[in-house]
Amino acid sequence: MKTYPGDFVLDPLGRRVPLHGPAAFASLRRAGGVAAACLDHITPLMQPGVTTASVDAAVAAFLRAEGAVPATLGYHGFPASCCISPNHVVNHGIPSDKVRLKAGDIVNVDVTAIVDGWYGDTSRMYLVGEVGAKPAHLVRTTYDGMMAGIAQVVPGRHLGDVGHAIEKVGKAVGYSTVRDYVGHGIGRVFHDAPDVMHFGKPGKGMMLVPGMVFTIEPMFNQGGPGVRTLPDGWTTITRDLSLSAQFEHTVGVTEDGVEIFTRSPAGMDCPVGAI
Ligand code: MF3
Ligand code: CO
Ligand code: CO
Repeated sequence: MKTYPGDFVLDPLGRRVPLHGPAAFASLRRAGGVAAACLDHITPLMQPGVTTASVDAAVAAFLRAEGAVPATLGYHGFPASCCISPNHVVNHGIPSDKVRLKAGDIVNVDVTAIVDGWYGDTSRMYLVGEVGAKPAHLVRTTYDGMMAGIAQVVPGRHLGDVGHAIEKVGKAVGYSTVRDYVGHGIGRVFHDAPDVMHFGKPGKGMMLVPGMVFTIEPMFNQGGPGVRTLPDGWTTITRDLSLSAQFEHTVGVTEDGVEIFTRSPAGMDCPVGAI
């Protein structure tokens, strides 16, 4: 199933899903690599007492030094260079000089770098100081869910296989999967077709073909799946205030499997070892 740059397929809503060739994959590798290196770079900062605004400043400085642009800054009016979402914040937390990390927090930082017009989108969880076994278990399980989804990224399989594999990992231990936010096509635009659900039915949804590029970014909650957005218009929290965790990689479908563009260069993809 050879595909060529300029080719596309249609998603179930009739939207074009571009199929990227080797040159695009090289560019995505660069953008993804910068975003992942940025998440590595801020790791030592994720300590008790540090404000999330200062983490955002470190993200902005790193991206600038790499010749990258933060995709979130000014995106639909978002005011920062990354999203920082602690504890019961599900996603899109706004960095603030009023929010200080404290021991025991689990915190997602989500960075999207634009390099030469190409986007790399990745997020991971950080543990602040000593973290309890229950929050750490949520963090590890969410990572395992994302990786189970990525393992289904093979030509001929379907997006439903990806979503099903993810949700199954959470369900097995009683965690719920957030349904209101999904992964997305990405490339020379930030949020593109197709929608990548983190739940689904095997064999359903779009068939995966080489050249497709999208994010996989599941959110698991320890309580129910319901979320609500705060009056700031961005910050989303769990309705029941239970803990939530998220990981995100940008991936491409290859001739025989998957390439992860946003792997941590320092091997720090997940802060909790296998359990
Ligand atoms: N990086 C997020 C994603 O994974 C999007 C953040 S958009 C923002 O798709 F405006 F909230 F920053
Ligand atoms: Co994303
Ligand atoms: Co993201």
